[in-house]
Order: sequence, then structure tokens, then C-alpha cells
Amino acid sequence: MNISRNFLLIGSIYILIGMILGSYMGGSGDRTLAPLHAHMNLLGFVLSVIFALVYRSYPAMAENGLARPHFWLHQSGTLLLLIFLYLVLSKTIAEDSPVVLLAPVADGLIIIGTALFAWNVYRNAN
Ligand code: HEM
Ligand code: HEM
Repeated sequence: MNISRNFLLIGSIYILIGMILGSYMGGSGDRTLAPLHAHMNLLGFVLSVIFALVYRSYPAMAENGLARPHFWLHQSGTLLLLIFLYLVLSKTIAEDSPVVLLAPVADGLIIIGTALFAWNVYRNAN
């Protein structure tokens, strides 16, 4: 699996959707989904692209057992967080709904993935 390319591909999809959402927010004046827009662009695009460039700049980081789990943890956690944000911000679910328990799960996936990335930097970014 080409980690850099996959991070770039997914990041590009997020920035497209994020910009369309931003453009809708600007046009309509409806800022309800602004935190969704922010995290789609920042977690989905900015971080994915930074990760892609780091894995490309330090090939040793892409060629070990830490890169793939980082990719999947970051992408699954981000997707889950964005779905959760949408459901809460659009009031599709109430703030006391059990679905809210998904938030720390999503955060945890992203944070564990980032810990693997940090460990990989420490070990292999030479
Ligand atoms: C076509 C491109 C974009 C459009 C039309 C757009 C539009 C908007 C609009 C209308 C808002 C709400 C502003 C407000 O109510 O004060 C906003 C907020 C925001 N945007 Fe964008 N945006 C775009 C791209 C981006 C990108 C590329 C990023 C980050 C990489 C970004 C990050 C943010 C952040 C962090 C906020 C603040 C959210 C908040 O206050 O809750 N936006 N954007
Ligand atoms: C595990 C990952 C993350 C979690 C769980 C998280 C959670 C949150 C929460 C709960 C807020 C307050 C939202 C509100 O009520 O207005 C927030 C705001 C914000 N976060 Fe994050 N965040 C994460 C990652 C990031 C990253 C990586 C960036 C930037 C690269 C970022 C940028 C922002 C910005 C700019 C705001 C303020 C704009 C807004 O209100 O939407 N976040 N975040």
C-alpha cells in the first residue's frame, strides 16, 4: 500500500467536500456546520497532506509496521468524528443520545494513530 498516495487521495476528497460546504455556509449565511467544515479541512485535508509529505520525505517511516495502522486509525477516526459532528450539529441526534459515546472512540482512534506516528518519527525520521 502506498501510504503517501492514499493520504493524498483521501485528503483531496475532504478538501473538495469541505470547500463546497464552506461555500454553502458563505452563501447561505448558515454557520451551523462550521465546526464540521473546520475539522473536515484540518483533520481530513491538512493533516492527511502533512502525513503524506512526511512519509514521502522519510521513506524509512513508510516501510515499517507503524505506517499502515496509523493510516487506518487516522482515517477511520476522522470519518467517525465527522459523521458524529454532522449528527450533533445538525441536531439529527440529541446531545444526550448514546451515539455521543462515539465521540471519545473517534478521538481515541485519531490520538492512538498520532501516537504511532510520533513513535515512528522518533525511530525512523533520520
Ligand atoms: C472554498 C474554500 C472555503 C470557503 C468558501 C470557506 C468558508 C467558510 C465560512 C463561510 C466559514 C464561517 C465563518 C464564520 O462564520 O465566521 C468558515 C469557517 C472556517 N473555515 Fe473555511 N472556507 C473555505 C476553506 C477553508 C479551508 C481550506 C480551511 C482549513 C484548511 C478552513 C477552515 C475554517 C475554519 C477553521 C473555520 C472556523 C470554524 C468555526 O469558527 O467554527 N476553511 N469557512
Ligand atoms: C482528535 C482530534 C480532534 C478533536 C476531538 C477536536 C475537537 C474539537 C472540539 C470539541 C472543538 C470545539 C468545537 C466547538 O464547539 O466549537 C474544536 C475546535 C477547533 N478545532 Fe479541533 N479537534 C481535533 C483536532 C483538531 C486539529 C488536528 C485541528 C487543526 C489542525 C483542529 C482545529 C480546530 C479549530 C480551528 C477549532 C475552532 C473552530 C471550531 O469551533 O470549529 N482540531 N475541536
